[in-house]
Amino acid sequence: MVARGAEVVVLGRRPEQPTDGVRHVVWDGRTLGAWADELDGADAVVNLAGRTVSARYTDRNLRQMMDSRVDSTRVVGQAIERAARPPAVWLQMSTATIYADARSRPDDLPHDEANGIIGGEEPDVPLYWEYSVRIARRWEETQAAADVPGTRRVALRAAMVMTPDRGGVFDYLSWMARVGVGGPVAGGGQYVSWIHGDDFVRAVDLLLEREDLEGPVNLAAPEPVTQRELMRSLRRAWGRRPGLPATRWMAEIGAFVLRTDTELLLKSRRVVPGRLLDAGFTFRHPTWDEAARHLVAERRRR
Ligand SMILES: NC(=O)c1ccc[n+]([C@@H]2O[C@H](COP(=O)([O-])OP(=O)(O)OC[C@H]3O[C@@H](n4cnc5c(N)ncnc54)[C@H](OP(=O)(O)O)[C@@H]3O)[C@@H](O)[C@H]2O)c1
Repeated sequence: MVARGAEVVVLGRRPEQPTDGVRHVVWDGRTLGAWADELDGADAVVNLAGRTVSARYTDRNLRQMMDSRVDSTRVVGQAIERAARPPAVWLQMSTATIYADARSRPDDLPHDEANGIIGGEEPDVPLYWEYSVRIARRWEETQAAADVPGTRRVALRAAMVMTPDRGGVFDYLSWMARVGVGGPVAGGGQYVSWIHGDDFVRAVDLLLEREDLEGPVNLAAPEPVTQRELMRSLRRAWGRRPGLPATRWMAEIGAFVLRTDTELLLKSRRVVPGRLLDAGFTFRHPTWDEAARHLVAERRRR
């Protein structure tokens, strides 16, 4: 964006020095303040705020995951409502986690926006899985409830965004593949939906531009893979031998070490980009096998 001459303002909870043409402005993600003036006259607002979900699902963490998303979305809506020149478009982060566990679908189809089944009512899933769907629903409902008739709204139902950066989900999975615990977890038949970071950025670009696109949009590669295939490709890309299979309880231990939750490893997420494909979007990295090799090469290059 900066390279294209756009003025970029980043809202964050701590003051930061200007970097590479980006101006940083402080907000608290909950209440209106001087930061709201930055939205007045802006072309676009993209709200990515939310406490990381890569954490144990304790009551306290779950509450913060919910509040940080709902509160920041509500207050962005209020800032747009107040603006004399509201932004033309508001892209609001959401998540592909909003859909039901794929194994609960009787028709065995992946979830697109038209035929996807919103989760929360599958039998036999832990209560806290249902809670993360509830977070996603409230997140989207909060954006939809804002009174912003002049602003086009899009909810980004993003799958796992794979980038070569440290600390991201690709980093965690790569660690598992490299230390030899990257085998199938709990059978490995559960689906993983993913999107290469480059395609995520390109899709966001398209959604900023395309005035005909509104509402929920899945940001996921067209070919979700099973967890077993995901790890197999990743091990191959790193040049490793087969990984040890892991049972559900081993996943619990692994998740504890990674400070994340087993839902990220065990829920079957089979989400496809119906609306992006209909809009003519072409993926640079449509298949995981190639994307994994590309990401490993990028990581090594750095
Ligand atoms: N990465 C993925 O694969 C993925 C997939 C689907 C959806 N998402 C969603 O996309 C968003 C961005 O993802 P990310 O991976 O870039 O996450 P991230 O690195 O954790 O960034 C989220 C940002 O939210 C802000 N934040 C954290 N706690 C907050 C709080 N209590 N109140 C207000 N703001 C808070 C932080 O900004 P400051 O510290 O600067 O204030 C942080 O940089 C998240 O909402 C995530 O749930 C991510």
